[in-house]
Amino acid sequence: TSGLKTKMIGQQAFYFDSTDSTQNQALKMAQDPERNGAIIVAEKQTIGRGRSGRKWVSPKGGIWFSIILHPKFDISTATLFPIASALALAIALEKTLKVSPELKWPNDLTVRGKKLAGMLVDASLESNKIESLVLGVGINFNVDVKKIEKNLSSTPNFYGVASLSEYKTKIKPVELVQSFLVELEKIYKLLNSGQTKKIISEWTKRSSTIGKNVKINTVEGEIKGKAIRIDADGALILSNNSNTNRVIAGDIVHLGK
Ligand code: BTN
Repeated sequence: TSGLKTKMIGQQAFYFDSTDSTQNQALKMAQDPERNGAIIVAEKQTIGRGRSGRKWVSPKGGIWFSIILHPKFDISTATLFPIASALALAIALEKTLKVSPELKWPNDLTVRGKKLAGMLVDASLESNKIESLVLGVGINFNVDVKKIEKNLSSTPNFYGVASLSEYKTKIKPVELVQSFLVELEKIYKLLNSGQTKKIISEWTKRSSTIGKNVKINTVEGEIKGKAIRIDADGALILSNNSNTNRVIAGDIVHLGK
């Protein structure tokens, strides 16, 4: 952790050459208040997990880690947390690599319409309050895109993989992670003090979803409409003729302008 510029996040680090999933490792430690801010990193994961129960292919060369947090904010802010975390990573990439990824609702980072990174958040609640959050971050840093695409081609709503290796960057993974931790800590402070407006406007600036016609598969079925904005809790607002719909979670497909 030398070169760490954060006060809380990343002060403790746990490192695995190989593990099932850093998310699972983090969840085992998350209840312990001493582990607030801890980061769990793995060179590779054997059972990496993605959103909606999908697998996350995690070979050596990628950046795979999870962070444990014990936030002060409530559930309605916690739903904004994954979106805010995706924003933190976008800012870190802009600063360190001069790469400007797009943000696809809810929490994907894309370049040229393909997935560069994703966020997964597991929350543990206690009588309707957030006890802990585990944020899992997967970044395709230097991975074999073809191989991963082949592995995932039959996954529902799969839309292609991108790797930072195509930018011929000289930056080291650890430098990108440290920059992300700095941006995440800033955003975490904003969330803890209820300042969500700035997060939403910065996310919207970089979003490829807002302004597009989209189709979302939710637990209640498919919803179509034009994405107009996100709410303070991260929900996506769709307009469809005279109706508006509020979508809290789901898998999105961009249909065009
Ligand atoms: C997504 O589906 O977009 C979320 C992907 C999250 C992957 C990361 S890699 C580190 C952590 N451990 C896991 O098993 N998953 C997350």
